[in-house]
Amino acid sequence: MTALKPNPHELIAQLRAICGPANVLTHEDPGADLSPWEQDWRKRVRGRALAVVRPGDTAQVAAVVKACAAASTPIVPQGGNTGLVVGGVPDDSGTQIVLSMTRMNAVRAIDPDNLTITVEAGCVLQNLQLAAENAGFLFPLSRGAEGSCTIGGNLGTNAGGTQVVRYGNTRELCLGLEVVTAQGEIWHGLTGLRKDNTGYDLRNLMIGSEGTLGIITAATMKLYPLPAAQLTAWAAVPSMEAAVQLLGLAHQRLGPGLTGFEVMGQFALSLVDKHYPHLRVPLWQTSPWCVLLENSDSENETHARSQFEALLEAALEAGCVSDAVVAENLTQARGLWHIRESITLAQVQEGLNIKHDISIPVSLIPAFVAETDALLALEVPGVRLVDFGHLGDGNLHYNVQAPEGADGQAFLRDFEDKVNTLVFDQVLKFKGSISAEHGVGELKVGKLPLYKDPTALAMMRAVKAALDPQNLLNPGRVLETL
Ligand code: FAD
Ligand code: MLT
Ligand code: ZN
Repeated sequence: MTALKPNPHELIAQLRAICGPANVLTHEDPGADLSPWEQDWRKRVRGRALAVVRPGDTAQVAAVVKACAAASTPIVPQGGNTGLVVGGVPDDSGTQIVLSMTRMNAVRAIDPDNLTITVEAGCVLQNLQLAAENAGFLFPLSRGAEGSCTIGGNLGTNAGGTQVVRYGNTRELCLGLEVVTAQGEIWHGLTGLRKDNTGYDLRNLMIGSEGTLGIITAATMKLYPLPAAQLTAWAAVPSMEAAVQLLGLAHQRLGPGLTGFEVMGQFALSLVDKHYPHLRVPLWQTSPWCVLLENSDSENETHARSQFEALLEAALEAGCVSDAVVAENLTQARGLWHIRESITLAQVQEGLNIKHDISIPVSLIPAFVAETDALLALEVPGVRLVDFGHLGDGNLHYNVQAPEGADGQAFLRDFEDKVNTLVFDQVLKFKGSISAEHGVGELKVGKLPLYKDPTALAMMRAVKAALDPQNLLNPGRVLETL
């Protein structure tokens, strides 16, 4: 005998019984506004949820998943909803629930000797950084969205950011996970072990799976000692080749002290200057590229400064830097980083655009940029390129803005697919990846089969089918179909 599936109203009643009535929001509620959960950050898509469900602990997450599985109701896990590839919002069918993790935001434990911190998935990244700092440690993951993105979302996307050159991306900072499976079982994997060879690496399978394989409810993350001094420099460089040469010098001279190496193109900086003139962008008018470097030192500020100055002198002599400033104090350093972090928002102010987060071997980036710039100029007359990103990791935000005065919607309609194809074909030619950090989500799901190794894709489908045979967890993201 088959059990009868509950109808949506019965399911909502069950979810309210599990999480409490106030934590299950629907469009039928008086004055309901679900747009913060239904609209993606870039305003590319506006979905419609059956309900937004806000569990308060892991047992509630497991019970919610069991109820949804029994009702064959798809679940879209969501953290801070800062994702850039439409991966954390529901589709427009009105049949999916958004599982918002933001109430689960506690720091569960800090182990100073093991250098680990255990937090719940909804913990905002900045709060995690602060908890670490208050305990005398560094949690090095960092990016512009850190005031609202969550560690669950960071793990879901295997997010990168501005310190990856030294500390790696989210995957490399994670030791253990607690996960609710598609069947509503709890995997208690919150180990703080740095070595564990007892079979398949389920932790790394979950990380970067964009909510399609399981729901991360908590994580044990690595901590590092706080640096004794941290200095920031801003350098004008005459070409992308020069930027790569500077990166080599910085690795040589600073070793593990090199904790940030960001490149910013002149047009990207001109947008920050245009939309946020009070930020006073240095050196951008006279140089095609600028680089932001960070030196974290375990000795003291004098040591850090002399190392940094020696590096910049060598770079000036070699001709790979034409001018540079070193921040005198923390306020100036924060100001320089703020300029870098403001490029994304300045680009939003300028209008709709096509975003890329590609990676290419660092050595090939200058040739990639020269060749792809020229091809794009032929494809889109008047195209404006907002190039910037984490050059230290070979990760470029090779973004394409509509020509001056063009209608953004019409530009996307007419050019998005052509531009993506052109850029991704170039990425393939230069042995890169079409997503270095933002993930596949919905925006790149149609392109993945064209650029991913077919055997890898077949294995991905097999994993998804084994772990989520009903295709209930974030369906249509990463993989279009099972
Ligand atoms: P959401 O947007 O809510 O979700 C993202 C994905 O993770 C979705 O697929 C969702 O289903 C899944 N997910 C969320 N929570 C869970 C969970 N608990 N379990 C399983 N799956 C889950 N990204 C970078 O990598 N590097 C950057 O430098 C960077 N800079 C940014 C700057 C700005 C201004 C903005 C707006 C975004 C930036 N991003 C960057 C993108 C974004 O911040 C990251 O993708 C981040 O990891 C998303 O976290 P979130 O909590 O907002 O997740
Ligand atoms: C960044 O590096 O600032 C982010 O990845 C955001 C973006 O691509 O705009
Ligand atoms: Zn980035």
